[in-house]
Amino acid sequence: MSKAKFITFEGVDGAGKSTHLEWFANALRQRGIGLLVTREPGGTPLGERLRDILLHHPMHAETEALLMFAARREHVELVIRPALQRGTWVISDRFSDASFAYQGGGRGVELSKLAQLEQWVHGDLQPDLTLLFDIPIEVARQRLANNISLDRFEQERGSFFEKVRQAYLARSQKAPARFAVIHAEKTRDEVQKSLEKIISSI
Ligand code: TYD
Repeated sequence: MSKAKFITFEGVDGAGKSTHLEWFANALRQRGIGLLVTREPGGTPLGERLRDILLHHPMHAETEALLMFAARREHVELVIRPALQRGTWVISDRFSDASFAYQGGGRGVELSKLAQLEQWVHGDLQPDLTLLFDIPIEVARQRLANNISLDRFEQERGSFFEKVRQAYLARSQKAPARFAVIHAEKTRDEVQKSLEKIISSI
């Protein structure tokens, strides 16, 4: 049996990542792959409590980074690693690339500090594949405009998201073998075609 894979989904808010994640997970299940879908921040009981604080409580940018990695420490230990060890694939809606993009790019936390946290929390574990849903910020924001209640991140200005987007792209350029960049402003059908291609190459 081939090794269970760890796949992450990333992108700015409004890129449509969650909808595509659901489709992608079902497509893998139809191929008989046993998988677990999880999310960050969250994925464990403590992680979900931290998520609630992170999404709604104002805090210093470095506190935010530390809490994201604290939640991740639990997630890796209790959920991700055990699943992979028993041969179950894991798809996570966001992982450490989001910390580099949002806390690093968006909030300006030093990337070297984030790299230390990454090394500490999961130095020996990286996703096998990361799907980055890239989209012009104006389009992402139009999509968010229909949401009734926006969290602390979604309420940020366009300039914040522009920095997040650029940080994601910079990160994808540093690890091109791990990343697949998806043009998320395309129609749902077109995006699904790209996802199908990715699935057949896994
Ligand atoms: P998101 O994944 O977009 O969930 P939903 O679709 O329910 O809104 O929300 C999580 C938010 O957390 C998102 O705005 C990005 C932010 N985030 C960070 O800032 N850093 C991180 O490390 C992670 C995992 C998420």
